[in-house]
Amino acid sequence: MVITQKILRNVSLSAHPAGCRRSVEEQVGWVKAHARQSTDRCYPTTDGLTLPKRVLILGGSTGYGLSSRIVTAFGGGAATISVSFEREPSETRTATAGWYNTKVFEELAEREGLAAFSLFGDAFSDSIKQQTADLITEELGQVDLVVYSLASPMRVDPKTGVTYRSVLKPIGEPFTALSVGLESDIVTEATIEAAEGTQVEETVRVMGGEDWILWLEYLGERNLLAVGCKTVAYSYIGPAITYPVYREGTIGRAKEHLEASAKELDRLLAPIGGRAFVSVNKALVTRASAVIPVVPLYMALLYRVMKDADLHEQCTEQIYRLFTTILYADGPIPTDGEGRLRVDDWEMRSDIQREVEARWRFQREGEPITGGDLEGVRAEYDQIHGFGYPDIDYTADVDPRVV
Ligand code: NAI
Repeated sequence: MVITQKILRNVSLSAHPAGCRRSVEEQVGWVKAHARQSTDRCYPTTDGLTLPKRVLILGGSTGYGLSSRIVTAFGGGAATISVSFEREPSETRTATAGWYNTKVFEELAEREGLAAFSLFGDAFSDSIKQQTADLITEELGQVDLVVYSLASPMRVDPKTGVTYRSVLKPIGEPFTALSVGLESDIVTEATIEAAEGTQVEETVRVMGGEDWILWLEYLGERNLLAVGCKTVAYSYIGPAITYPVYREGTIGRAKEHLEASAKELDRLLAPIGGRAFVSVNKALVTRASAVIPVVPLYMALLYRVMKDADLHEQCTEQIYRLFTTILYADGPIPTDGEGRLRVDDWEMRSDIQREVEARWRFQREGEPITGGDLEGVRAEYDQIHGFGYPDIDYTADVDPRVV
């Protein structure tokens, strides 16, 4: 079949296997090149660093989780297990990008003699936790790092069977702000209604730290956490303009819970000399972030300003910097006042934020976005679904089951 890109309300409904292959190959190539030889202080070689050798990544098929898998495997030689929730392809329907990414990752890892195992299923369920633990027992013995990088719209509580849904809404009152979609350059005014009923609590149940703790407790009970095991989950803070819908909204409550959970896990891991952290990462186009209202406009302005300052990074550069210069660098691990790791430091630099704010003030409802890089945001969004690579023939007839 000829695979075309279909986007509905900032969600891509299709993925291209050849392009997903390219996207993973490029990230792997970048990591390998820097790991071996680098003169860049921000992305040093991995020589002399003690990177984890057995890594479990929850949500390892796309975005920050996939980057965590690529960096630890191709930068540090780790054996990896990924758990993700992805759709398989059929004769007439493409897989999701994460499914293709996972297959390509396994192939590239195997070529380098790196052990790589992947489970597709619901990470919130008890049965996937059991299967993962069995796999660790059989194949890795224990793990040295657990990366928690799930982004999900829902979670079924394994104890009660109750389904919780996460929403991206302000708390208390509606929020009206300028916004832009991926389909059109025109800036619109969007109003997001305030969370109602149990929506705040449900979002915390899905995107907070409850399930992260369940994972670590369970792996601990099964004696699968190695001495000195670390765990890291990803969070976001961002600028004041996105506070009402992000940091002070329903998702912000979940992130606060995630950050509090890191402290709890840090205590839980202390007896084995382990540590737990939340890393605050940069706003980047991923499947999860593209659907947050207001955020694509902010990202378009941020991308332009950071690219002009030569500071733009994608997920893999962010995670490479996190692991080589913060989490596994020599010496004490640098944290902010709240104990968090910060790789959003460049995004939050005052000169960058001042410029983004100044550009935000120039945007007018009903007019095209000005001073931004919506094209760049779109291009990254397309590429994470395997589209937009100039040398891939998108008119070719391909079998969606073959990556
Ligand atoms: P993403 O959508 O690219 O990846 C989400 C991952 O979770 C995928 O591997 C998916 O298969 C997996 N997943 C979802 N539901 C699952 C389930 N029930 N069972 C198993 N796997 C499941 O998202 P992204 O952006 O990489 O987000 C990862 C984390 O990073 C999130 O906590 C997000 O809040 C955080 N973050 C994202 C930022 C961004 O701008 N994209 C910025 C800072 C933090």
